[in-house]
Amino acid sequence: MTVSNRQSVTKAIIPAAGMGTRFLPATKSMPKEMLPIVDKPVLQFVIEEAVESGITDILIVTGRGKRAIENHFDFNPELETFLRQAGKDDLIDQVRDIGDRCQIFYIRQKEQLGLGDAIRLGRQHMGDEPFAVLLGDTIIDPPAGAAPGLRQLLDAYERKRSSVVAVHHVPKAWVSRYGIVDGQPEDGDGPELVRLRRLIEKPKPAEAPTDLAIAGRYVFTPEIFDCIDRTGRGVGGEIQLTDAMNLLAHQQPMYALAWQAKRYDIGDRVEYAKCFVDFALRRPDTSAAMREHLRRLLEG
Ligand code: UTP
Repeated sequence: MTVSNRQSVTKAIIPAAGMGTRFLPATKSMPKEMLPIVDKPVLQFVIEEAVESGITDILIVTGRGKRAIENHFDFNPELETFLRQAGKDDLIDQVRDIGDRCQIFYIRQKEQLGLGDAIRLGRQHMGDEPFAVLLGDTIIDPPAGAAPGLRQLLDAYERKRSSVVAVHHVPKAWVSRYGIVDGQPEDGDGPELVRLRRLIEKPKPAEAPTDLAIAGRYVFTPEIFDCIDRTGRGVGGEIQLTDAMNLLAHQQPMYALAWQAKRYDIGDRVEYAKCFVDFALRRPDTSAAMREHLRRLLEG
């Protein structure tokens, strides 16, 4: 165990530079991470989860066409003056809030060479510290009363002082869409914490060792950076994070935490639509009208 592994985690990388080809044409001029769920961009949910989990320093990996991200988390004096003059001071807090609660930094990924490459860009900023990764296009929705997704992962990190990846159970027929974890719990741990043997990218259902799929949240020791450097270009010419994680799992203990939280991959159209509807049904200001609308629609 290195000294760095014992530090608590205050920094996070949010990769948000992908092309979002599954969401064209919307993503031609707009980052998918800025798609709204009712009235809040996906990335704001992600940053709130990080901040509520104790993260104070966030590095967002952006790219071409992603200016809207920087503008959203910046001050907007004209908008604030307008809102003040219109007597809508409560909205000023809403447009400022999250940018005030943490420090946000940006780095640009010049070529979209994959998730592994996006994370590598954070090496200098993360230094020799453990850090979290939250995919900018993924919303984690824990059951009512449970801790935020990343907080659950950080608790597991603090127990094991090793890298931990979040996973969730998926129907066996779906395993070929995900990175699947192979491993088993150690003595003394519950069934939800698995010592990771290896990761298999998009296996056929018959070849999948478990139904545990990677869920878009990670905590890494800094040794992941050397593993990314040793990872060549894999599927689609991209530097795959799962390849680098397999190298790390050979080198030091790694764990997977199977949580109960729901995961929405916003880059997928159906998942986005489901997320929008689920959240609209839950919010006090939209719930009744949405419920009524859906009831009428289904009665048809
Ligand atoms: P995805 O693989 O879902 O994003 O990456 P993508 O490449 O934009 O998707 P499609 O397949 O073309 O629709 C998950 C997260 O990692 C970021 C994305 O922005 C997304 O938030 N990412 C991906 C990067 O930052 N850089 C990359 O090179 C790839």
